[in-house]
Amino acid sequence: MEDLKKYKEVLFEAAEEAGKIITESYNTVFRIGRKKEYNDLVTEVDHKSEKKIIEVIHKHFPEHNVLSEECGDLNMTSDYVWIVDPIDGTVNYAHALPIFAVSIALEIKKEIVLGVVYNPVLNEKFHAEKGKGAYLNELQISVSKIEKLRDSLLVTGFPYLARENTGNCIDHFNNFIKEGLPIRRLGSAALDMCYVACGRFDGFWEVALNPWDMAAGYLILEEAGGKLSNFKGEEFSIYKKQLLASNGMIHEEMMEVLGKVEC
Ligand code: IPD
Ligand code: CA
Ligand code: CA
Repeated sequence: MEDLKKYKEVLFEAAEEAGKIITESYNTVFRIGRKKEYNDLVTEVDHKSEKKIIEVIHKHFPEHNVLSEECGDLNMTSDYVWIVDPIDGTVNYAHALPIFAVSIALEIKKEIVLGVVYNPVLNEKFHAEKGKGAYLNELQISVSKIEKLRDSLLVTGFPYLARENTGNCIDHFNNFIKEGLPIRRLGSAALDMCYVACGRFDGFWEVALNPWDMAAGYLILEEAGGKLSNFKGEEFSIYKKQLLASNGMIHEEMMEVLGKVEC
């Protein structure tokens, strides 16, 4: 595999520059717009963060593609695709709740090789390079060693169309609650994945995510020894919507609960 050093520097530069923009505007007044769903927000800071990230990437690699949440695909012809969520957890950000992150991954020839998930206000930078382990700032991280579902702390998220019970998301949630388990809902899928990667959570599921929510978190979690699949245990892809992520040991038990309603 080619040396990724020069890409990693740009990955960090982009995340840090976006982090500065996000931190400066945090808890201030800024414009907030709505997307198709009333509670699917986008702020002017999402746009500024995205613009900066793309600017940094294209300053160094003008021929690379960017797949980013707010601008869609930009000219997808290169083998190099940067997958960007300028703020994952926008609703939290709009409410000054400090649970959000910049998420950037680099995919080379369809393989994700670098990822960073950076929460600038908590100064937590999760990152990974393919085959080289996962880190929180300078510290190598790994998933928890919890063996049983009944001892686990889980996290989930809901699509903006949750009221329609998309993908049976409400039923899945009810079924886990009925197991008597503690479950959290943080509002940033990228951080949910990283929190499984560093052992804060033991498992995470969500019915409908996008590539920019998962690309960096996927590599970080895999490099931390985690397991990712769809709800049936089949091969995970950032381009398919469903995600079951765990420390590996509780994966089967989570699949059993998810299998109680159609997946
Ligand atoms: C959302 C967050 C949330 C998840 C949603 C995502 P956004 O991303 O990751 O946790 O439940 O499905 O769309 O809109 O904050 O970038
Ligand atoms: Ca997102
Ligand atoms: Ca976003």
